Amino acid sequence: MMKILLSGCNGKMGQVITRICANHPAMKIVAGCDLYDKQLSDYPVYAKFELVQEQADVVIDFSNPNALEGLLNFCTDKKIPVVVATTGLNEKQKDMLKNASDIIAVFYSANMSLGVNLLIELVKKAAVILEDQFDIEIIEKHHNQKIDAPSGTALAIADAINEAVNIPKNYMYDRHAVRKKREKTEIGIHAVRGGTIVGEHSVIFAGLDEVIEFKHQANSKEIFVTGALKASQFLLDKPAGLYSMKDIFNHE
Ligand SMILES: NC(=O)c1ccc[n+]([C@@H]2O[C@H](COP(=O)([O-])OP(=O)(O)OC[C@H]3O[C@@H](n4cnc5c(N)ncnc54)[C@H](O)[C@@H]3O)[C@@H](O)[C@H]2O)c1
Repeated sequence: MMKILLSGCNGKMGQVITRICANHPAMKIVAGCDLYDKQLSDYPVYAKFELVQEQADVVIDFSNPNALEGLLNFCTDKKIPVVVATTGLNEKQKDMLKNASDIIAVFYSANMSLGVNLLIELVKKAAVILEDQFDIEIIEKHHNQKIDAPSGTALAIADAINEAVNIPKNYMYDRHAVRKKREKTEIGIHAVRGGTIVGEHSVIFAGLDEVIEFKHQANSKEIFVTGALKASQFLLDKPAGLYSMKDIFNHE
């Protein structure tokens, strides 16, 4: 049985993980950490990591970037591997992840969906083959409560394409302000907001008389939990280092 300490346990994602682990044969949440430290389930909830008494095999974090420093201090001190799913980390916080990964196994992915990560790998391959002749556009769709645009995942897809191609491209977020033809050297990135769409990402390669489209559609938050639990299992026997979904693909 894998024992989990859940950071951000009282948030939306924390509660989805709690529900899934409640009936899981191989995973058990032994304690939670959350600023809002009310006990909502059958495990104790602490406002600070220093207060946690229970022994855990892994920490899973879906909370807030502000929690990161305390989280990493706790995990490096206790030598517990950690899966960080919290998004919106700044450069300093990403450096903190790297520093912690000298001491413990750290898994970080701004999108824990296996499907999105596979989409990124496929799109990178397509970009290498098509970069000279096809225009690349990314369209993302999310619910009407989302504040940031474009999504972190759309940017991660664009960054991955840029890492793969020979000549890096500029990001064009909004065409209405610029009255000129599309440049070859750009990736258009577009955000749609409405209703309860959990998350859609399409990458369009438009060439002469042909279009190839890669699309991922998230239908529930559970896909992120499935990925985070898979990442936790993956980390258990790993030495110190910084891991991502790519390592899981290469492992399988
Ligand atoms: N990587 C992924 O695949 C993925 C998927 C979904 C959500 N997320 C990210 O996970 C995070 C949480 O998402 P959510 O929808 O559950 O948000 P949420 O706001 O519903 O929950 C966040 C929880 O963290 C707690 N919290 C906030 N600051 C804290 C701190 N300093 N210390 C301890 N706890 C703190 C809050 O009290 C809350 O219970 C966000 O960053 C979100 O973008 C990542």
